[in-house]
Amino acid sequence: MGVVVPLESDRGEGSDAVERLTELVGADMDRVTDLILSRLASQVEMVPELAGHIVESGGKRLRPMMTLAAASIVGYQGTDHVKLAAAVELMHTATLLHDDVVDESDLRRGKEAARKIWGNQASVLVGDFLLGRAFKMMVEVGSLKALDILSTSACVIAEGEVLQLATTKDTRTTEDAYLQVVNAKTAALFAAATEVGAVIADRPDSEQAALSSYGRNLGIAFQLVDDALDYSGRQATLGKTVGDDFREGKLTLPVVLAYRRGTADERQFWERTLRDGDQNDGDMEQAIAIMESHGCLDDTIGRARHYGAIACDALAIFPESDMRDVLISLVHFCVNRSY
Ligand code: IPE
Ligand code: IPE
Ligand code: MG
Ligand code: MG
Repeated sequence: MGVVVPLESDRGEGSDAVERLTELVGADMDRVTDLILSRLASQVEMVPELAGHIVESGGKRLRPMMTLAAASIVGYQGTDHVKLAAAVELMHTATLLHDDVVDESDLRRGKEAARKIWGNQASVLVGDFLLGRAFKMMVEVGSLKALDILSTSACVIAEGEVLQLATTKDTRTTEDAYLQVVNAKTAALFAAATEVGAVIADRPDSEQAALSSYGRNLGIAFQLVDDALDYSGRQATLGKTVGDDFREGKLTLPVVLAYRRGTADERQFWERTLRDGDQNDGDMEQAIAIMESHGCLDDTIGRARHYGAIACDALAIFPESDMRDVLISLVHFCVNRSY
């Protein structure tokens, strides 16, 4: 008889992280929201209409809350973190407008994607407008270092999206290539969001590096989970169309693993559906069944948990505090999330 070892399960852990974080940074976050709304103004009517549509659809607002939290954990006493947090969320919103055009997505934040209402051209251009507004706010803050970090991340995000174009439909994509894309398209902004919190407080390099590492590793974990949810999530909960990645031939980690672990027949299935884009009714269900038979979705979450652990350990240099606890619990939320 073997010993029964209980499976480690932290499902549910971190489920109150966003509420707890909101409690700690809520007053500043209200200022961030007001600031964002005020900066959507334009005499060109379609600009605030389209931008207002995506901003008012909500979203988790994780990145700006992370900037506020980072400023708080290093003891920042000024007010510039509010502008930087608003700039970070505007950059994120711009990337979502662009991303839905690139991915031909119909649903965003539980509502019709802006591109479905106003078209691809307007979505790209209003995305550019939001990026411009974001950079204007950074200039108002006047920290060249924060401007450097955030403008570098804007370039890296765009590079990541372009890099992803090259891996799309390519079933030979490696896990390393996938991680390179994720680092660039998602983790770069998470890292910048937290790093600038420490930068404006003029904290030592070690604190800036710790917060950057926290953001980067949390960002990788976040995208890994997002890619698992594209196969296993519920559309109504996610507010995005499940199965977009499969339809678009995206080589995300669940597929990279399934292809590598697959039989010859299964590899042919991936080549037909992803490389050749020849998809029929029932293929998505079969894709999920193949992934599950090789543990690919569980292993994708396992990888996310690994990066999440790195994020938590990066915070060890800060003394114990409510904020540190909440940032750790935010990692658990991101790993266990269903939306
Ligand atoms: C979506 O990010 C884009 C990814 C990096 C997967 P979020 O899931 O944070 O989007 P919102 O802001 O909550 O809508
Ligand atoms: C998120 O990528 C977009 C960026 C990080 C720029 P995805 O295409 O994977 O995210 P969703 O699923 O559409 O939100
Ligand atoms: Mg997308
Ligand atoms: Mg995309």
